[in-house]
Amino acid sequence: MVQFDHHRRLRSSAAMRDLVRETHLLKTDLIMPVFVQAGLTGKKEIPSMPDVYQFGLDTILAEIKTIVDLGIQSIIIFGIPDHKDEVATSAWEENGIVQAAIRKIKAAYPDLIVIADTCLCEYTSTGHCGIVRDGEILNDESLTYITKTAVSQVAAGADIIAPSNAMDGYVAAIRQGLDDAGFINTPIMSYAVKYASSFYGPFRDAANSAPAFGDRKTYQMDPANRLDALREVASDEEEGADFVMVKPSMAFLDVMREVRNQSNLPLVAYNVSGEYAMIKAAAQNGWIDEERIVNETLVGMKRAGADLIITYFAKDVARRLDQA
Ligand code: PBG
Repeated sequence: MVQFDHHRRLRSSAAMRDLVRETHLLKTDLIMPVFVQAGLTGKKEIPSMPDVYQFGLDTILAEIKTIVDLGIQSIIIFGIPDHKDEVATSAWEENGIVQAAIRKIKAAYPDLIVIADTCLCEYTSTGHCGIVRDGEILNDESLTYITKTAVSQVAAGADIIAPSNAMDGYVAAIRQGLDDAGFINTPIMSYAVKYASSFYGPFRDAANSAPAFGDRKTYQMDPANRLDALREVASDEEEGADFVMVKPSMAFLDVMREVRNQSNLPLVAYNVSGEYAMIKAAAQNGWIDEERIVNETLVGMKRAGADLIITYFAKDVARRLDQA
C-alpha cells in the first residue's frame, strides 16, 4: 500500500470545514464607500455600478442609517462638487460638499467612523489629483492644497484622513498640517500602494474625476512593479502613516501579501469600482453566483493579509453575515 497524506479528513463535513477554517470575514473588516453630490436632490444610480448611488445632502442620512443598522462601523466619503477650478477650491472650502456631509453625518451618528478620501481630482478643472502648470502635475505645490483639504475635513469632523492623490511626501505634509491645526490624534490611512489602473473606470464616472488630458502614470504606480510598492510603503511609514492601503486588490494580491510581510501597520485592501462592476455584470447575466464570488474575492484579500476592506459590496456582505 502506498503511503500518502489524507487531506480530505479535514474536509469531510460542513462542521469539520468550519472547525479548521483559517480566514473569516467580519463586519468590522468592512468599509463602505459613499458618494455625495452637491446640488443633487434625491439619489442617482451610477450606470456602471449597479446598486451604487450618488446621494444628495437630503438623502445621505437615510443611506447612513441603512449602513449603521447593518452593523457596519465605517464609511469612506467621496464628494462631487458643483464647481471646479485650478486650485480645487471646492475640495477645501469650509462649506464644501464633503465638509457639509461629514458635519451632517457626525451630528446624527457620532460613533460611526467617517474616513475622508483626500484628493483633488474631483475638484480640479483638469481632473488631475494635483495642481497643473504648463501641462505638468506639480508635486510640492499640490501638497499645500492636499493638506488644506485634509485639515478642513478634520475640522468638519472626519475621524480618519485617507489621502489618495499619490504625490510624494503627502503623508509628511498632511501629518504636519494636522498637528499644526491641533489634530494630533487623527490617523492617516495612506493609499500607499496605488497603481495607475484601468480598474478605476467606473469610479471616474461616479465621481466625475477623469483627467481632462493625459493620464495618472507619473504619480500612480506601474502595475508591472512590485519593489516600487515596497518603497512606497517604507516612505509612508517613515512619514507617519497609521494605515497603508493596496489598490486595486484582485490583480495585486501578491503585492498585498508582501506589504503585509514588510509592514506592521493595519493593511487596507481597496476592492475598486472596476472589480465591483465586473462581478455585477457577470452576475446580472447569470454567468456567476454573485454571493459566492464576492465571498471568495474578499476572503482572498484577507488571506493575502488585509485587515480591512473598502468595498462597494459591504452592505451585501453585512446582510449575509446577519443571515448566516
Ligand atoms: C481619487 C480616487 C480614485 C479612487 C479612489 N480615490 C480614482 C483615481 O485615482 O483615479 C478609485 C476607487 C475605485 O475605483 O473604486 N484619486
